[in-house]
Amino acid sequence: MLERIHNFNAGPAALPLPVLEEIKDSFLNFAGSGMSITEISHRSPWFDSVINDAVERVKRLLKLDDKYHVLFLQGGASMQFCMAPLNFLSDNRSADYVNTGTWSTKAIKEAQIQNKPIKVVASSEDRNFCYIPKDISFNKDAVYVHLTSNNTIKGTQFEILPDTGNVPMVIDMSSDILSRPIEMSKIGMIYAGAQKNIGPSGVCMVIIRQDLLDLSPGNLPSMLNYNTFASKNSMYNTPPCFGIYTIQLVLKWIEETIGGLEKMDALNRKKAGILYDYMDSSDFYKATADKGSRSLMNVTFRLPNEDLEKAFVAKATENKLGGLKGHRSVGGCRASIYNPTTLDAINALVSFMKEFEKKS
Ligand SMILES: Cc1ncc(COP(=O)(O)O)c(C=O)c1O
Repeated sequence: MLERIHNFNAGPAALPLPVLEEIKDSFLNFAGSGMSITEISHRSPWFDSVINDAVERVKRLLKLDDKYHVLFLQGGASMQFCMAPLNFLSDNRSADYVNTGTWSTKAIKEAQIQNKPIKVVASSEDRNFCYIPKDISFNKDAVYVHLTSNNTIKGTQFEILPDTGNVPMVIDMSSDILSRPIEMSKIGMIYAGAQKNIGPSGVCMVIIRQDLLDLSPGNLPSMLNYNTFASKNSMYNTPPCFGIYTIQLVLKWIEETIGGLEKMDALNRKKAGILYDYMDSSDFYKATADKGSRSLMNVTFRLPNEDLEKAFVAKATENKLGGLKGHRSVGGCRASIYNPTTLDAINALVSFMKEFEKKS
């Protein structure tokens, strides 16, 4: 009997069960090669078909035109905090940053460490990042505007992306990548650590437009230059093969089992709606993010006191509901409900929450 829990971890996080089963079934003999996916060469036709299929699926799902390159890099999303300003801000040019939480703050810091003259044009720090700033004025001469579309720790998300005029957006979508359709015309680059919505840790997906690639100065270390990877289909050096393979299977699941991003979005809205509606009807649980800024991916909430929060997390774990502790920097509770989280998991969580409230 397969003993699995409902996994609400923030990342690494739940993966679709059919994907895990496919990995298990083909683990010792990938595509008739007689080898595991973890044993084949990245220069083999087997791996070519994996990475090329992954790239094509991302292009179809996001309706990308030929100007966009899909890359799979290492160093996590954190490496992108450094690579974006390094590649795009030569000649003392500036970019605008919006600070909506811990990860945006880190992205800002990495640009400042390099002495790049960036401007923080909006921040929600005044209220502990519980909302998404609105009506932001951007600088017309900025090279890019950097945003974190979903704030994993604070539980907020841009409901719609801001209008940045002609300035391309560079967006950290680590925790909401491929969870909903997005309008790509104003987006110059997206990056996402895979370990929340689309795969395991160890690989960061980067979608980058040609005009941003063209900004890269020639004198960067090869491993920090986007062109190195764009010109070699992400295989300048050995790529994270297993991670890319898992991503390919998750993309196939989104396209073929879920039915694309509109359907993924509808399911994600339904899941988050059930949780928020219940919390709004209760005096016991309180969602921490402002309405209108609430994340569909990371539902952060508080109970009346910290002792109850501790007991809630412990009791939930006993009931096979894992990963509900809030991030150590903010406390409280958090249910991360990325693409793979099922409606069953949400219903099990809400039943448990009702029971816990009744007994407390
Ligand atoms: C929004 C966001 N950006 C960046 C990161 C950092 O990602 P990584 O650990 O892949 O560097 C995280 C990790 O949780 C995140 O949630």
